[in-house]
Amino acid sequence: MSATSDSHGLRFKDKVAIVTGGCCGIGRGCVDVMAEQGGKIAVLDLNDKVGNTLSSVSTSGEIFYVHCDMTKEEEIKNAIKQVAEKYGQIDCLVNNVGTHPGSKTIDELTVEGFKDLLNLNLVSNFTASKYALPYLRKSKGNIVNITSISAHSGTGLASSYCATKGGCLSLTKALAIDEAKNGVRVNSVSPGCIDTPLFRSVEKAGGREIDEERLKYIGSLHTLNRIGQPREIGKACLFLAVDATFTTGEELMCTGGCELGSGVKYALPYLRKSKGNIVNITSTSAHSGTGLASSYCATKGGCLSLTKALAIDEAKNGVRVNSVSPGCIDTPLFRSVEKAGGREIDEERLKYLGSLHTLNRIGQPREIGKACLFLAVDATFTTGEELMCTGGCEVGYGVKQ
Ligand SMILES: NC(=O)c1ccc[n+]([C@@H]2O[C@H](COP(=O)([O-])OP(=O)(O)OC[C@H]3O[C@@H](n4cnc5c(N)ncnc54)[C@H](O)[C@@H]3O)[C@@H](O)[C@H]2O)c1
Repeated sequence: MSATSDSHGLRFKDKVAIVTGGCCGIGRGCVDVMAEQGGKIAVLDLNDKVGNTLSSVSTSGEIFYVHCDMTKEEEIKNAIKQVAEKYGQIDCLVNNVGTHPGSKTIDELTVEGFKDLLNLNLVSNFTASKYALPYLRKSKGNIVNITSISAHSGTGLASSYCATKGGCLSLTKALAIDEAKNGVRVNSVSPGCIDTPLFRSVEKAGGREIDEERLKYIGSLHTLNRIGQPREIGKACLFLAVDATFTTGEELMCTGGCELGSGVKYALPYLRKSKGNIVNITSTSAHSGTGLASSYCATKGGCLSLTKALAIDEAKNGVRVNSVSPGCIDTPLFRSVEKAGGREIDEERLKYLGSLHTLNRIGQPREIGKACLFLAVDATFTTGEELMCTGGCEVGYGVKQ
């Protein structure tokens, strides 16, 4: 039995999660993965036809459907209360609900339409977080917001959609800072193209036939040369909920590497045979720099770039390449660097170093181990990415209330 599974190997046994928009698509992928791992999953959705069948799905946990229009504050508030009353706790909130208005120029989009979209895609995340947090603070739980690669790269003919997703990213970082002192972590998952009813309906509305050729073309825009599946996002949420104990305010990319390189893909003998993967341990110093450590930081920046470039070359061989960037981790190296700098590693010093991290502590080696295990096993639509296990030390301006 590992530290994060029960005697039957269930990783989410008796944990209670809320998944908004969990009837179909990505939300359903999250519901299935978390319930199979023993979780009690409440689905807040308005698709009663699917919702009413969910309690009979055979799984190691259970699924509870609550009819809830996620654009209505009162309904969200009542639904969350209902879940808390039924299970007595809430451990995780997955803010997944969202839609896409289809490919339109700003001239074709209306201001009212944008406000409606904002209400569903972003305000719902704020509202559900607001009403779930009193329970999450008690359970030391966590929030996962489903954003999108479009928040970074933009997508043509989707200005209103991209704007809502950028908002979700910023909400994630800001809430992570505020809630760290309450023991609640807040992270996001950014999917690339995932095969869901929404993905198919946007394609169809754009007059595009979703046949094998089209799927092959869209797949080719991703470094992994395929589009993703809802369960792959579910596995990312499970990782963030269970194992990512030194990760907050971060974004986990499940994009098939679609933002890497310049859209051109070119081309380890054993890994190619096993369709294995590489994890490079880099450092948050590669981004932020660290005083009196120029050569160290430079080497770590190199590791990051190597990760991205190799990910592009090796995708066609079935090999994924990712990195983990730790913050301060309590290891012999960390202690020897402190000592060599003439600093005594006593409780006061550890407390001070911890206070530089949003989670208010330094990390442990096993927390990096769990990130590597996730990348090796479950991160099947993730390549060329960097998983931050930094205790959120780079979130905000280093000032904590
Ligand atoms: N599919 C992709 O390629 C993709 C890529 C990036 C991000 N995303 C994001 O992932 C999330 C899920 O997308 P999807 O593709 O699975 O969508 P989907 O349309 O396939 O599923 C959305 C679910 O939300 C429910 N829903 C819609 N409006 C609701 C409302 N007002 N109240 C309650 N429930 C409501 C639907 O009934 C459905 O079950 C969205 O936030 C989307 O922006 C999707």
